[in-house]
Amino acid sequence: MPLRGKTTDLKKRMRDALKGGGSKAIEKQKAIGKMTARERIISLLDPKTFNEYDLFAVHAGKDFDMDKKYLPGDGVITGTGKLSGYPVCIYAQDFTVAGGSLGWMHAKKILKIMDHAMKLKIPLIGINDSGGARIQEGVNSLAGYGEIFYRNTQASGVIPQISVILGPCAGGAVYSPALTDFVFVVDKITKMFITGPEVIKTVLGEEISMEELGGAKVHAEITGNAHFYSTSEEECFDQVKKLISYIPWNNQKKADPLPKKSPKRFYKIDGIIPIDPKQPYDVRNIIKAVSDDSDFFEVQELFAANIVIGFARFDGQTIGIVANQPLVLAGVLDVDSSNKAARFIRYCDAFNIPLVTFVDLPGYLPGVDQEHAGVIRHGAKLLYAYSEATVPKITVILRKAYGGGYIAMCSHHLKADFVFAWPTAEIAVMGPEGAANIIFRNEIKDAKDPEDVRKKKIEEYKEKFANPYVAAAYGYVDAVITPNETRRMVIHALEISSNKQEQPPFKKHGIPPF
Ligand code: HXC
Repeated sequence: MPLRGKTTDLKKRMRDALKGGGSKAIEKQKAIGKMTARERIISLLDPKTFNEYDLFAVHAGKDFDMDKKYLPGDGVITGTGKLSGYPVCIYAQDFTVAGGSLGWMHAKKILKIMDHAMKLKIPLIGINDSGGARIQEGVNSLAGYGEIFYRNTQASGVIPQISVILGPCAGGAVYSPALTDFVFVVDKITKMFITGPEVIKTVLGEEISMEELGGAKVHAEITGNAHFYSTSEEECFDQVKKLISYIPWNNQKKADPLPKKSPKRFYKIDGIIPIDPKQPYDVRNIIKAVSDDSDFFEVQELFAANIVIGFARFDGQTIGIVANQPLVLAGVLDVDSSNKAARFIRYCDAFNIPLVTFVDLPGYLPGVDQEHAGVIRHGAKLLYAYSEATVPKITVILRKAYGGGYIAMCSHHLKADFVFAWPTAEIAVMGPEGAANIIFRNEIKDAKDPEDVRKKKIEEYKEKFANPYVAAAYGYVDAVITPNETRRMVIHALEISSNKQEQPPFKKHGIPPF
């Protein structure tokens, strides 16, 4: 065939492949507010940067008349492109083709692009929209998942892995996103579960909708499986672009800096903490008052809101922020908040992102529920993550730092590089009321006016311990600073820690309290 004929043949083959599952399936997809897989890639990546591979892959199914079926691209689109200028590897499952189900060739395409991402040391983005293992291909589909999970694990901490769940993500398919770094979900579109409503009805006799079982809100608020929640695919893609701008391409690099910017004048750091130490306030206002352009990109905003995590910039450099949130449960540490913060600390440490911690908490949450839910094991994750992290670690104690909470929130004892405290800081084994009731129990009981003595003893304890100066006297606090000095001191500490190198003792790996 002369070249012209060959070109015509190529164009025809491409046209057929690009039709996906056909107009009826595409209409069904659109009717529920979903873009097609190819539209998603085009709308997420920088214009005209996407190059697709393996468009002509042929599925491997032979049983149940599958050998008679044409499944364009075997239900998944793979390729490379640029996202906010970053090179990325990407795949998007095409639900219009056999429900985006994962057969062996579908899996092989994903494996190939994952291998590229690892070899080229660039981020991997997976857009999931699939009915799960392709039932007709049996064990080969399961093999495909297993190979994906293995690669997700190998890539963990080497390249950023981002999962965007834009449709069903059912059965074993959920474990690939769960092994990646960040999971994005969209209201009414994401449906993520191990066993669907029909199985639950058959086995347990319970009726539940897909939305209630594993919708976006469920994963953003309750399970903690999701890191970013949005109400449309467009908003979700904006979030992905923003995240990419904060993180490095791989674990050998630092995140690209932006030009320095001062915080917005709107955020006045002086007046944020209330005079009454029992009153709550929103710690995000403190973060915004000290960050470049007051820009704080919060991660897992709706889950375990008693701790706040996310990215900000100081003098243009990306920083990971961890802060107790006095607005929710007084900022206590519990099972979920410990898990949330510990994982984020490990992410930042793996990708060379320094950590700034803001402390204001009464300690770990007491109670039978928490004890039985494993607050010892989960709380230990936070100690482990901070102790293990070798990136620069700067801590600012704003107000309460009681008990185990003081130690856990990146104290000097877990090898923070610098610990600063505001004059409002109270660093003690426990709150003054509880402490006075225990250590002066007999004096209070035997007094003529127990209430009066209790008050005096509380004041006595406050004066002695509920301030930053005892800790400062021992060198556990490096400097007591005014709120207005915070940004300057943190920036200076980050600057002089920028060449920090710490070698952990030789080991294959540690055994964190998983
Ligand atoms: C083969 C599948 C499929 C699958 C969907 N399809 N899921 N084909 N294998 N797993 C096909 C449908 O037959 C249909 O084909 C087309 O995709 C669209 O599906 P619909 O059911 O019409 O779509 P919808 O009503 O939107 O429902 C979507 C759905 C439902 C909720 C995802 O399809 C569903 O429940 N699928 C099964 C989900 C599941 O149980 N997966 C787990 C598999 S086991 P036609 O030709 O009619 O258009 C698993 C274990 C892996 O994943 C373990 C690894 C460790």
